[in-house]
Amino acid sequence: MSITILAIESSCDDTSAAVCKDAKILANLIAGQKVHELWGGVVPELASRAHQLNIVPVVDAAIKQAGITKEEISAVAFTRGPGLIGSLLVGVSFAKAFALALNIPLIEVNHMQAHILAHFIDSQPEFPFICLTVSGGHTQIVLVKDYLDTEVIGETLDDAAGEAFDKCAKLFGLPYPGGPLIDKHAKTGDAQAFHFPEPQIPELNFSFSGLKTSVLYFLQKEQRKNPQFVAENRDNLCASIQRTIIDILLKKLEKACKERGITQIALAGGVSANSELRRRFNELGEKNGWKTYIPKFEYCTDNAAMIAMVAHYKYLKGEFTSQDCEPLARYHL
Ligand code: KG4
Ligand code: ZN
Repeated sequence: MSITILAIESSCDDTSAAVCKDAKILANLIAGQKVHELWGGVVPELASRAHQLNIVPVVDAAIKQAGITKEEISAVAFTRGPGLIGSLLVGVSFAKAFALALNIPLIEVNHMQAHILAHFIDSQPEFPFICLTVSGGHTQIVLVKDYLDTEVIGETLDDAAGEAFDKCAKLFGLPYPGGPLIDKHAKTGDAQAFHFPEPQIPELNFSFSGLKTSVLYFLQKEQRKNPQFVAENRDNLCASIQRTIIDILLKKLEKACKERGITQIALAGGVSANSELRRRFNELGEKNGWKTYIPKFEYCTDNAAMIAMVAHYKYLKGEFTSQDCEPLARYHL
């Protein structure tokens, strides 16, 4: 018998629904929310209201695009956390109601686990592998032993890598989300133009909040001499901060692989859409003779296809969720 999953992702500012049949994605639709651009960051209350408007049409369109009927769905999956509580609530409530109405099982999914299993949509990394998950809310080095067996071996002590991109972009006068714009401007900038101090954090952990502060002080100092400093140096600033963030990430990733004797590495999360990170990640793999995995662009940022993948493997193990399940703003892997 085939397994057909309807999956919902609503942890932050994208409403996404996907349909997956026997681990193959039939539809993966995402409704973004432009409303946050004005505010320079995601406004939680606006995000949950937009999810409420988007969720029914997005699910409806995903089912139609997949060419299935509601009756063919074996289970409904949702992101339980981590994320914004008001946003998560919309997805959780919708999934519960859908499961009740169709009398099918519910499956809760950890968003960070889903970023990792996005790799299995189009490829098949061998276990064990190490995954560097870099998103707007999280930065983790994860030892992946099996589909549902993971161990976080390093993580950020403060800001996430995506947050560092977005906060620096704001200091460079770029709108939210700034990560993709830093990527774009960096292409025509000199990555060695400016040097910022790298944090000295023990073991496999990261810290990005000091970097943002040192950029702020550096800009204040330069702007006192030349008020046009940012505008005149934007591309070089973008290239230099991008190089610094990537240096920090890849040094720890290399240390983790060498310590654990792992030769397969994967990159996941929204920041893995960064073109220079993708290039240098592959270069690192080549230098060490490691096999590298990066998901397709549309599976790097938040999407419900990755939620469906986790749900598929949970379905196989009979790991279902009760109607009492609550969303979790903090949900550790
Ligand atoms: O995984 P994601 O879509 O959402 C979270 O779970 O946080 O990641 C969003 C983050 C944002 O910080 C965004 O600026 C960053 O990913 N991002 C990028 C790029 N595309 C998205 N950062 C750098 N370069 C990019 N091309
Ligand atoms: Zn994410």
